[in-house]
Amino acid sequence: MTMKKDFLWGTSISAAQAEGGWNEGGRGPVQVDFADSGNAQTSGRRLFYRKADGTRDFVPGAYAMFPHLPEGGKYESFDDIYYANRNASDFYHHYKEDIELMAEMGFSTFNTTVSWARIFPRGVEGGVNQEGVEFYRDMFTRLREHGIDPIITLYKYDEPVYFEETYGGWTNRAMIDQFVEFARVCFTEYKDLVNKWMTFNEINVLMLFKDFPHTEAQAKENMQSMHNQIVAAARAVKLAKQINPEMKVGTMICGLCNYPLTPDPLDVMDTYKSFQDVFCYAADAMIRGSYPSFAKRLWKEDNVQLNITEQDLKDMKEGTADFLGFSYYMSQCRTTHDDGVEGKGNVFLGLENPYLEKSEWGWQIDPVGFRYFMHLLYDRYNIPLLVIENGLGAKDKVEADGSIHDDYRINYLRAHIAQLRQAVEEGVDVMGYTTWGGIDLVSASTGQIEKRYGLIYVDMNDKGEGTFERKRKDSFFWYKKCIESNGEDLD
Ligand code: BG6
Repeated sequence: MTMKKDFLWGTSISAAQAEGGWNEGGRGPVQVDFADSGNAQTSGRRLFYRKADGTRDFVPGAYAMFPHLPEGGKYESFDDIYYANRNASDFYHHYKEDIELMAEMGFSTFNTTVSWARIFPRGVEGGVNQEGVEFYRDMFTRLREHGIDPIITLYKYDEPVYFEETYGGWTNRAMIDQFVEFARVCFTEYKDLVNKWMTFNEINVLMLFKDFPHTEAQAKENMQSMHNQIVAAARAVKLAKQINPEMKVGTMICGLCNYPLTPDPLDVMDTYKSFQDVFCYAADAMIRGSYPSFAKRLWKEDNVQLNITEQDLKDMKEGTADFLGFSYYMSQCRTTHDDGVEGKGNVFLGLENPYLEKSEWGWQIDPVGFRYFMHLLYDRYNIPLLVIENGLGAKDKVEADGSIHDDYRINYLRAHIAQLRQAVEEGVDVMGYTTWGGIDLVSASTGQIEKRYGLIYVDMNDKGEGTFERKRKDSFFWYKKCIESNGEDLD
């Protein structure tokens, strides 16, 4: 058998994309609650708000993360917009049933996030919302009772509106203390239930500005925000070890796998530089405990002077991640020439690769790239990898008898798990694999629920019509078999 006996199998979801119950149980609002939905096939959602002059406007959102509202702008709900994240998959009311379904598939793990706005709706100063704490306690207890070892992420694309209004978001160092206190409450409350954590989801996406035209001020804002998150994460790691030395805390990096489009050495260099800037800059800081040597080049390019204290550097050194979680969906190409066809993705803008097939949303399907990428990461970081997101977004059809024949999804998962197995055979240390969005949920980039990733179907459409009833897709039964055989049976 290739995989270790205790290899973790499961799925991953997030509070903002699956939970719903946006104004229940004392939860405060988060930015994405105000984003529109169902921008079919496009990425770039819109966050509507009321301008200071009384008119309505929107800010475009890059991948579920929104810039601040302009001066004087106020969050407001408009009747003609369906805000999909507010109900999402209604996991808030269905988690008990969903946990039963996960157990039926034989999951040994499950990844979700704790919604910050459920624990601290109005920051530390507003106090802990006990109802939120108990909601997660019940969820984690049930997972344990079903033999599922939860891996919990603290922050994923769900900035509480309160922080934007009060502190102006992550550029403000005050957010570091806010986050560390949030982490302290989670680690303390759930120390007997959860021993695997991740701090920030895809902490590196703040570096994607490098691929777009930007000003020096934007570069500074993104890199300072990311620095503050890196320090907050490092301090959280240190805190976790004080609360329970057995806790493992990982980092989570968005897996952006690029190839040079041509053998031109300039294309090769450009591709490697992009890997350094977008992946390694953050990952080195979180795993090696300091910024890499090329950081100086990066800061110089945009004339950025970061506010970094001696204590930050010490915290980064002392609070390094125990494992490397990452997402992987696709690969793309890059070139310094004028050729190439623009590819599609959520955050990830690159060029098409003529050797690859594409999903309905134009994302390139590249299972071998998955193995290549695992080697790249393991060779560089030498700590256990955790594949925390991998999956195919596709439309599903429910047959008259309620069955859902999603062989496209099975094919995608089969091909990727086969490459995962091969990577393990070739020496990569992987601790687990969770498919993305095992319960249908709201797409981060398009706001659609009909771009489905699930093994479990959720009866809901992009207009907000549906019952939230759950159904088992064919992939549900396939994944159950895969897990039962510890990844050996992929037929
Ligand atoms: C990942 C994100 O990178 O991509 C998820 O962490 C997201 O939040 C996933 O849902 C798939 O992207 P999309 O845009 O299809 O939802």
